[in-house]
Amino acid sequence: MPILFDSEKQCFHLKNDQLSYVIGIEKDKYLTHRYFGKSLPFYAGSNSLQEIDRGFATNPDPTDRKFSLNSLPMETSSQGTGDHRISNYQIRSTNGANLTNFFYREHQITSEKKPLNGLPSLRNGQVTTLEISLYDEIQSLEMILVYSLYEEYPVITRSVRYLNHGTQSVYLENAGSMLMDLPRTDFDLITLNGAHTNEANIARQPLHSGIQKIESSRGTSSPQHQPFLALVEPSTTEFHGEVFAFHLIYSGNFTAQVEVEQYGSSRVQLGIQPETFEWCLKSTEIFQTPEVVLNYSTDGLNGMSQTFHRIYQNKLVPPTWQKKQRPVLLNTWEANYFDFHEKELLAQADLAKETGIELFVLDDGWFGQRNDDASSLGDWQENTEKLPQGIAGLADKIHQKELQFGLWFEPEMISKNSRLFEAHPDWVLQVPAYPMTEGRRQLVLDLSRRDVQDYLIDMLSGYLATGKIDYIKWDMNRHLTEVGSLAFPASQQKEIHHRYVLGLYRILETITSQFPACLFENCSSGGGRFDPGMMYYMPQTWTSDNSDALCRSQIQYGYSYLYPPVMMGAHVSPVPNHQVGRITPLQTRGLIAMSGNLGYELDLTNLPADEQTNIAEQIAFYKAHRSLFQFGRFYRLQPANDFFATAWLFVTEEEAAVIYFNGLARPAVPIHQLKTRYLEEQAIYQDLTTGQKISGAELNHAGITIPRIKEDFATLLFHWKKV
Ligand code: GLA
Repeated sequence: MPILFDSEKQCFHLKNDQLSYVIGIEKDKYLTHRYFGKSLPFYAGSNSLQEIDRGFATNPDPTDRKFSLNSLPMETSSQGTGDHRISNYQIRSTNGANLTNFFYREHQITSEKKPLNGLPSLRNGQVTTLEISLYDEIQSLEMILVYSLYEEYPVITRSVRYLNHGTQSVYLENAGSMLMDLPRTDFDLITLNGAHTNEANIARQPLHSGIQKIESSRGTSSPQHQPFLALVEPSTTEFHGEVFAFHLIYSGNFTAQVEVEQYGSSRVQLGIQPETFEWCLKSTEIFQTPEVVLNYSTDGLNGMSQTFHRIYQNKLVPPTWQKKQRPVLLNTWEANYFDFHEKELLAQADLAKETGIELFVLDDGWFGQRNDDASSLGDWQENTEKLPQGIAGLADKIHQKELQFGLWFEPEMISKNSRLFEAHPDWVLQVPAYPMTEGRRQLVLDLSRRDVQDYLIDMLSGYLATGKIDYIKWDMNRHLTEVGSLAFPASQQKEIHHRYVLGLYRILETITSQFPACLFENCSSGGGRFDPGMMYYMPQTWTSDNSDALCRSQIQYGYSYLYPPVMMGAHVSPVPNHQVGRITPLQTRGLIAMSGNLGYELDLTNLPADEQTNIAEQIAFYKAHRSLFQFGRFYRLQPANDFFATAWLFVTEEEAAVIYFNGLARPAVPIHQLKTRYLEEQAIYQDLTTGQKISGAELNHAGITIPRIKEDFATLLFHWKKV
């Protein structure tokens, strides 16, 4: 049994071949965090709790001055009874007090993982689940800490269920997903931070006294911060060292924080952001928190990423898409923006077919009076001036060319200038009497409302039921303001942020399970909502609105901490690049885009003939090796240096490829022998250009010499087949 309860020692041992996690019960009441790390054959208790009578400490048991919640390593915080560190929950009783006494009551171990009610989570597999129930007798409240351990992955998931068995309502002012106290502070903290067009910058700094926190209050997980943090040894690199990583499966406001406290421990906490949250938990009701994925690696950051990549591909994305190859697409946005007519689209489609593209995606601008971003969101009827036979007619013509057809929607949004707004001004997020703040000249629909959810489900199923749409790009291009709902009473207005996310999940669950064959691409001005919550419904994301190859090499590098390349949409776009004006070689744009999910976003009718041929060659190459790029293992070999040079490796049982991006060319180049590190040592690899046969061991340890390249932003491809 991978989860053991030792009734004598009063502890739980969650254990697989790769990790152990130990929880203790103290004084029959309190849950303590005892160990998280390398797998232990059994747990005897060598790292016993310190028993020290500390000054300023309060003692729940007056006869035991050595026992205090002020310093106990906990599995969840306590409230109002002496644990003064950051908390995982805060409950306000009907009498106004913030006080609870949750004590251990019972536990249950089962060999499955149930889906979370209304929320995305990792899917069932070879999993054992432990539910530990804590109870507050005075208010009849129950808190269940849920742990699931996967047998084949160094992964545990955690979440919390709050249950009100009393007769009075209570208010959850904070309902965190997990908390734990690690008994040390000599860690570096890693987070992924950014902005629109500059997502997933890797930040690493030593922990210091006090609280280090990242969060979002924007209504989405945001491009500013990923709902993720990792604690690593200072000596941990891409290749070696211990990593404790935490990733929240949630698409709304979140907090991820670490507190270095007075006696040398680090408290980790993740969950919904409390400042923008409150939940009225009525008698007999249950509140389920989002889930956190805990990932343990002894093989450095690449080790961490391998686990995230595998478990997200196998246990997070929709089952239909776990192993299914993704088509090469052409997206119209950077070629046409809002300005197109069916004739031009069909001319693009002809060339797309000729170059080997498989999916034609019509982006923004096809509906209502949408000739710029000033109007029509919400009016999802085709503009027949642009598309004389509508979407159905265009889709038929695209299909006749033996291309798949995809369409852009931004369902959560509404333009003030739209028929939908005229008909339903009450469907918008708003606070009475206050003006509504626009962003990109649009407002946000109130997804907490059931009628709005149903309207969106009907509208989208209407399009999908025609069978003419093979792909949907689901966009979301602004953050939330005036987060209030006309459908809820004053006492529930602080629930709206979370209710918005629950509404979104209900729509996505309904639509994606009704139409599993449709490929959904998640987008929020690029990576603005690239989080595991969205990936549960949509297997790929438009990674960034920045399509410049140099910037993309870094954005995709950062995101690869968590997501495999197949989840990252990446397009070859025109030069000079529309976001930064940079000119990069087509070969580089191609190889960087192949390091994600390959697409093209440029005007094929306006390219020199040789570039069209080169694109056709790129696509033919990609198709011949699609399983390597989409489903091979992906390893980072070299973080970007001061000249932006970087490198990574794709590897399967049959072949391997290194992509080396040179960044800025420079004269006095140092010796550079790039080690592949992760090839099979005993295997022989044949270079597909030179025919040379080399052992995996040699490529891993002696490496390949990178020649001097006298060109900015050039890229090299090294490609071997295993013989
Ligand atoms: C967002 C997306 C782009 C494009 C535009 C259309 O910015 O990220 O890819 O779809 O919207 O308005």
